[in-house]
Parts: sequence; C-alpha cells; structure tokens
Amino acid sequence: MSALPETMLALVQRHDGYSDTATGPAIEDAAQWLEAREIARPEPGPGQVLVRLRMASVNPSDLHFIKGEYGQPRVKDQPAGFEGCGDVVATGDGAEALMNQRVAFVAAGAGAWAEYALADARTCIPLRPDISDADGAAQIVNPMTAMAMVDIARQSGEAFVLSAATSQLGKLMCSLGRDLELKPIAMVRREEAVEPLRALGAHEVLVTGDAQFSRKAADLCGSLKPRVFLDAVADPISEQVFAAMPSGARWIIYGKLGAENPELTQTGQLIFMGKRIEGFWLTRWMMDTAPEEQMRVVGEVQARFADGRWRTDVSDTLPLRDVVAKLSESLKKPDGKVMIVPG
Ligand SMILES: NC(=O)c1ccc[n+]([C@@H]2O[C@H](COP(=O)([O-])OP(=O)(O)OC[C@H]3O[C@@H](n4cnc5c(N)ncnc54)[C@H](OP(=O)(O)O)[C@@H]3O)[C@@H](O)[C@H]2O)c1
Repeated sequence: MSALPETMLALVQRHDGYSDTATGPAIEDAAQWLEAREIARPEPGPGQVLVRLRMASVNPSDLHFIKGEYGQPRVKDQPAGFEGCGDVVATGDGAEALMNQRVAFVAAGAGAWAEYALADARTCIPLRPDISDADGAAQIVNPMTAMAMVDIARQSGEAFVLSAATSQLGKLMCSLGRDLELKPIAMVRREEAVEPLRALGAHEVLVTGDAQFSRKAADLCGSLKPRVFLDAVADPISEQVFAAMPSGARWIIYGKLGAENPELTQTGQLIFMGKRIEGFWLTRWMMDTAPEEQMRVVGEVQARFADGRWRTDVSDTLPLRDVVAKLSESLKKPDGKVMIVPG
C-alpha cells in the first residue's frame, strides 16, 4: 500500500442527487456534469478492493447518471463511472484472494472514471489472459444484460424484437440470438446498419425511418409472431410495434434512448390480449438470480469474448484529462464504445 500515491486524477461529479429533467443520454457539454480534479485516493474497506484502472467504458447509464436521471442518486465530488477493468493493488479484510489480479469490476462508491476505483470483491470478475482490456472494461453491464434478456426471450418462442440494435448490447443480442437458433428482428435508425446487423445474426432488420416501416413491422409480427420486445428506445414507434405484436406479447423496456415518450393507443390489448408492459434492470436481475446461475453466466460471457463470438467495438479512447473537453464529440462517433484510460 505504501507505494501507492496519496492522490489521483478523477472525473468527479458536479451535482448531488437527482435532477428533475428527462433528457436522455445526450451530452452537449460534459463540463456541466463533470470536472477533472486531483483528489485523495480511496482506501478499500472490508470486502472491497482497490483497482488501478486500465480502461473504463462510457455507457448510456453513466450519462443518465451524471445528469441525475438514473435510478441512483449522484454524490457530488465523487468520481463517476460504473464499469471498468484494472489491476487489484490493495484489498480490505476478506478480499485478499483478489490481490494482483486483473479484474472486470463495477465501481462501488468511488467510480471507475479515475486512476483508482473501489469495487466490492464479490462482484469482481478475474479476467482470463485471452480477454483484452477493452472487452474486460465492457464485460459486465451489457454482456450480462444480453444473456439475461435473450434468456427471457427464448422462453416465449423463436422470434423476438429488439430496438437500438446497433448499440453494443443490441449487437451482442443479435449474435447470441442467432447462436441459440432464435430469430432476432432488429430495429435500427441507419440504413447502412442493415447488412452489418444481418451478418451479425439479425434475422430481419427494420429501419425506423423507412416510409414502409409500420407495414413491414406489422407483416413480420404476423408471420414470425414475436412475443417479446426488448426495447431501449421507448418512444411512439416502440408503442406502434408493441401494438402490432400478437396476443401475450411482452414489451420489456430496459433503456430510454428515445427523446419522445410513447402514448398508449391500444389499452384494450392489455385487457383482452393479455399483453404486458414491464421493465428490466440488471441490478434487480442480480438481486433475484442465484449466485451459481450468475457464475454460470459470467463464465459463458468470458468464453464468448475469448473465442471471438463477441467483441467490444471501440469508437474512441480518451485519457482521463481529455474527457471533459472531448466526450461530447467522441460520443458522436457511431458504432462503438468510448473508452477512458488513465493519463
Ligand atoms: N436496464 C439495464 O439493466 C440495462 C443494462 C445495460 C444497458 N442498458 C441500456 O441499453 C441501451 C444500450 O446500451 P449500450 O451500452 O449498448 O449503448 P451504446 O453501445 O452506447 O449504443 C447506443 C446506440 O443506440 C442508438 N440510439 C441512440 N439513440 C437512439 C434513439 N433515439 N433511437 C434509436 N436508437 C438510438 C445509437 O446508434 P445509431 O446511431 O446507430 O442509431 C447509439 O449508438 C441503453 O439504453 C442502456 O441504458 C440497460
């Protein structure tokens, strides 16, 4: 411990608690929400580890969070960032087994967008040597959600619909769906994403801006009978798709990328067709799922990254000191995650 510096560079939050806005994950100027500052390096408590950061990912949940629009309150002056990968350099009581291991982690208290972060030892995933740092830094939130949600979909038939299919999570679900011999029906905004998504595993791809979108969505709902809609957009187009789905369909909202809110136009379907609207949150799935099942999923996730069935696309990499100035521009690059590295 004595060799570790007393202070560290971190991207700290500028606000406390929740805001009363609902503007989604778009960031115009990161300086509104974040400040790069030298702060005291945190110390791990019982059951915790101190991780020296290798790489942290920027997920939509991080952006909702720093804006005060996520399901957990912000803490002013604490580092932001939920997820990353790095080396365990100090441990609290009971966490000694992880010392010196490279782990994927979800930050607990002191966030991942800093040179050092704290994590609960029970949630750290020691990484196989054949997993890259980029895959390690995006190993938990999206891959575990993909595994959990495709598992929900497969229990309701072959076909399922997913929105924002060009997102990292959408791509993981398309290829996992194909590997499980399911038929993912992918919704995208960009025409140029159609072929890449088919190659990844989408059975059908619908472009939401296509003048024929509603008819094509209704035709596919009639022929393939998808009964689960995994939706990260939750806007009026999502509602149209749900309304076209067959009896017993479940609209599972797990993100809010869309700027407009949906309106319910067919409430009778909830009564007479047994349709349901629900949410999914990985944090709740972790609370409700037995540790052995979670470990099985973790093993399967690492195997998929190690053998190349899954990979993390990176659109840009920013050193900590450049994030405030450059994050907004970097987030505009399509088709990949922005990663943060020390420096
Ligand atoms: N509930 C949970 O437990 C949970 C867990 C993990 C992730 N999530 C959610 O899953 C979603 C995807 O996460 P991710 O990390 O995979 O995202 P990501 O890789 O950062 O990709 C997001 C992509 O979504 C597309 N998009 C953005 N706004 C959109 C809109 N209004 N309509 C349609 N598409 C839009 C964009 O692609 P194009 O520019 O190509 O359209 C964007 O690149 C997010 O909403 C996130 O919050 C939820």
